[in-house]
Amino acid sequence: MTDTSIEIALVVAAAENDVIGREGGLPWHVSSDLKFFRKITLGKPIVMGRKTFDSIGKPLDGRPNIVISRDPQFAPDGVYVFASIDDGLAVARTLAADLGQDEVAIIGGAQIYTATLPQADRVYLTRIHASPDGDAQFPALDSAVWRERSSDRHEAGPRDDHGYSIMVYERIATN
Ligand SMILES: NC(=O)c1ccc[n+]([C@@H]2O[C@H](COP(=O)([O-])OP(=O)(O)OC[C@H]3O[C@@H](n4cnc5c(N)ncnc54)[C@H](OP(=O)(O)O)[C@@H]3O)[C@@H](O)[C@H]2O)c1
Repeated sequence: MTDTSIEIALVVAAAENDVIGREGGLPWHVSSDLKFFRKITLGKPIVMGRKTFDSIGKPLDGRPNIVISRDPQFAPDGVYVFASIDDGLAVARTLAADLGQDEVAIIGGAQIYTATLPQADRVYLTRIHASPDGDAQFPALDSAVWRERSSDRHEAGPRDDHGYSIMVYERIATN
């Protein structure tokens, strides 16, 4: 049975032009955001598209990894694979409840963010202060649906290509 008390959070880093990816990877290196990503997702079930899994190259530790793919041959070690996003989300919610977590983290990419945004309760958005070229974009957040709860600006650290702002959006209306 699906536990609907478990919330759905999108975790994304998007540039000022909403670009999130280029040629299967990230168009920047911002080490500080990778640390934030680890902190916010550790212990929670993470849900991702097959292309994002390929770009990471291995399961992320300390979190159940759920990968969405229509390819019946796709079965790497260490991950749960589902051919339907709804089936993957249902299992992610059950795993979150079993682990004592209150949310599931959707970690991309563009196809999976676009498909799940209408069901999401929260968005952890790292706004990368740059406008790179790219071929994958985060969908726009409608201000009638999403309220900015917090925004913290950070200068680029020694291992960051750019400064960034960590923003949290909460759903205030149905779509
Ligand atoms: N900046 C960020 O925070 C961030 C986060 C994650 C990813 N990214 C970037 O985003 C890019 C990848 O995004 P993407 O949109 O190309 O790919 P994606 O969303 O990661 O994965 C797409 C794949 O997921 C599967 N899929 C998608 N919708 C499905 C559905 N409704 N039912 C079943 N399977 C479904 C398909 O896999 P099959 O082809 O196997 O059937 C599809 O090819 C990369 O550049 C990556 O680096 C950026």
